[in-house]
Amino acid sequence: MNSIAEVIPSIVGEIQVTTEEEILADEARWQEQQDNRQRLVFDATRASEMDRMNIPPKVADYLSKPFDFTKQMPDMTPADWKRIADAWMEGKAWITLLGDTGVGKTDVATRLLVKKRRHLIGLGAERFLFLDATEDIRILADRFGPDTDALWDRIKYASFILLDDVGYATPERHISAVRQIIMSADKSGAILIITSNHNLNGLGKMLEGAAMSRITATPNQVFVIKGRDIRQEVGK
Ligand SMILES: Nc1ncnc2c1ncn2[C@@H]1O[C@H](COP(=O)(O)OP(=O)(O)O)[C@@H](O)[C@H]1O
Ligand SMILES: [Mg+2]
Repeated sequence: MNSIAEVIPSIVGEIQVTTEEEILADEARWQEQQDNRQRLVFDATRASEMDRMNIPPKVADYLSKPFDFTKQMPDMTPADWKRIADAWMEGKAWITLLGDTGVGKTDVATRLLVKKRRHLIGLGAERFLFLDATEDIRILADRFGPDTDALWDRIKYASFILLDDVGYATPERHISAVRQIIMSADKSGAILIITSNHNLNGLGKMLEGAAMSRITATPNQVFVIKGRDIRQEVGK
């Protein structure tokens, strides 16, 4: 005769086809949801500026070290970086940064978002929104519920949005969410800074029509960042 303790797991095993891996994956998904919720629903009085801008800790960490404007010489000179910064700081232009992985797009785009915030100090940090095209877009594309609503509210409220890593391993439903964000920004008047490892042609094929034409419309500017992958070098 088996003890109850032995029988129950076997019954559960029979009626539930869930495997150990599926349970672990579900656990991980749930945990991730909690983490994302904590990132989205912030306590404005206590959260750090980075948290309030939804900048992931890993990326916030980039900013603890100075940006080296000579790092990608001769492909990118300090003057090339300055042109990008000036275009972003001066106007109402959307800025798109294209280039291979590891050349510094996310780093410099995040610095520009933070720089803009500090320049426009009267605007709360919540008006500046970092969106990770693989993490945050997944919430918009795959889930419905309070966290999705919270994120859409933030997108509509934001004045400046960094849409980071557009097109990196992105399924169609995620691309659709990216298009919606672009069209929402166009409607609300939010200024976008976009990074992508696609070239302009690839980005155009992915986004198509209206969304793509916003990116290239006057006065918006597209920059190609040339250089080498320095992730190994900086130990990331
Ligand atoms: N010019 C630079 N000076 C200092 N660190 C840099 C520079 N460019 C990139 N990095 C660092 O290299 C890593 C990869 O940069 P990242 O911005 O993530 O590249 P990308 O977004 O283009 O893939 C990050 O840790 C970033 O802080
Ligand atoms: Mg990046």
